[in-house]
Amino acid sequence: MIPNILLIYVLLECCNGQILSNLFPSFLETTADLEHELAKTPHVVKASTTQSNALTVSRLTVTKPPAKLASILGSLELPSYTNHLSNAQVADEFLATYNSGLKNEDVHFNFEQLVTKYGRDYELHEVITKDGYVLSLYRLLGSRDPVFLMHGLLGSADDFIIAGPEDGLAYLLAQQDYDVWLGNARGNKVSRAHISLSPSDAAFWDFSWHEIGVYDLPTMIDYILENTNKTSLKYVGHSQGTTAFFVMASEKPEYNKKVSLMAALSPVAFMTKVRSPMIRLMAPGTSLLQAVSKSAGQNEFLPDGKLTRLLKKLICGSGMLANIICGNLMFLSYGFDFAQFNISNLPVIFSHMPSGASMKQLVHYGQGLINEDFRHFDYGSMENSERYGTMLAPSYNLENIKTPIWMFCAESDWLADPVDVEILRSKLKNVIDIYKIQNKEFNHIDFVIAKDVAKLVYRMVLKVLSSF
Ligand SMILES: *[C@@H]1O[C@H](CO)[C@@H](O)[C@H](O)[C@H]1NC(C)=O
Ligand SMILES: *[C@@H]1O[C@H](CO)[C@@H](O)[C@H](O)[C@H]1NC(C)=O
Repeated sequence: MIPNILLIYVLLECCNGQILSNLFPSFLETTADLEHELAKTPHVVKASTTQSNALTVSRLTVTKPPAKLASILGSLELPSYTNHLSNAQVADEFLATYNSGLKNEDVHFNFEQLVTKYGRDYELHEVITKDGYVLSLYRLLGSRDPVFLMHGLLGSADDFIIAGPEDGLAYLLAQQDYDVWLGNARGNKVSRAHISLSPSDAAFWDFSWHEIGVYDLPTMIDYILENTNKTSLKYVGHSQGTTAFFVMASEKPEYNKKVSLMAALSPVAFMTKVRSPMIRLMAPGTSLLQAVSKSAGQNEFLPDGKLTRLLKKLICGSGMLANIICGNLMFLSYGFDFAQFNISNLPVIFSHMPSGASMKQLVHYGQGLINEDFRHFDYGSMENSERYGTMLAPSYNLENIKTPIWMFCAESDWLADPVDVEILRSKLKNVIDIYKIQNKEFNHIDFVIAKDVAKLVYRMVLKVLSSF
């Protein structure tokens, strides 16, 4: 049964449901059934007991899906936040604060307008990768060493400024006069360009974070070094920004010496404990995903489907607040931490993320859940043999990584579970240390948007950067 849910999911994502009714007419009904069942079944069985503030009545729980859904999802245990915001006052306050945030003009400002508003000069550079993608690279000028910031899955350079002028990592670095460069991976909203392909071509989306690591990062790093006359830079990556770094440093070892230090915020390579339901759903039927992608092509990850609504209910429950929070794909994929929301800033955050990605990026992560390894993309044994000369997709050669690395990880991270971060550390020879965020509920997205991110994370990042 598992492949079935994956199939609807993929069909909905890939093809806007168009071929769904031809291929699988009964699934529309099934989905409606499931939605109905979810709506009436209480699905939370265990709630954690920690308390932080009043808003943490929305709490990390472990969900057992309703029986019918469970039979489709298999033995998956999905993480969930329910908000039994029975406390109407709390809910009212949330909504009032959120609504006042909607009036903030920053909601409508792009990267360039935001940094200008907050008093920073910027430059926009365009770089072209060896395989033809045109990427936007931003710079906040400073006289100290270059620091390169690379965003995570579904993110963009905006991720490092949307926490605001007091908390955004790019601003904090600029305040200290670093020469701050912000990358944008292929396929995100400001890097949706190619010398010959258009984003409406399936071929445009035929990439995962492997290509980001092998093409985008080296192109941007070389460009920065040429422009600054430096031989190395410091690198801060979040999430996929770390994954792509590990790909680059193992596949193109000459880049190790071009990065004098890497700060890995929520490092993602091994996925054995990943809790993100989006990623987990991408995992079980890899061969099925291939079959679908062969006929439909690789595509942009654009979940508007029914199953996304279903996931929303499953993860967040229902109600107005659940709709606001889990209406954002980023939160469905990354999880969130209610206590660390800056509620008045949520509208700004929502208007800047997610920023776009390909299906293949998620699928590649999903594969890691099954193979419990950090490997090249698995195309199935036939195509693997052609591409790699082996039936199995080869593991990335982590032995090649020489850049000194500081890791930052968090207890409640849906993507970079501390257990997986520890596995990664054990395979690398050059990890200086792992800094565990001093907050039990801290999740993946908190590394860029948490209310206390400057205090809990960036203070230490700045210290680490200045010590090298
Ligand atoms: C880099 O060095 C070259 C000569 O070595 C010089 O012409 C150029 O102006 C320098 N660029 C910067 C940004 O310092
Ligand atoms: C929350 O966001 C608003 C802007 O939306 C900002 O003015 C305020 O300083 C932020 N609060 C915290 C605690 O970061």
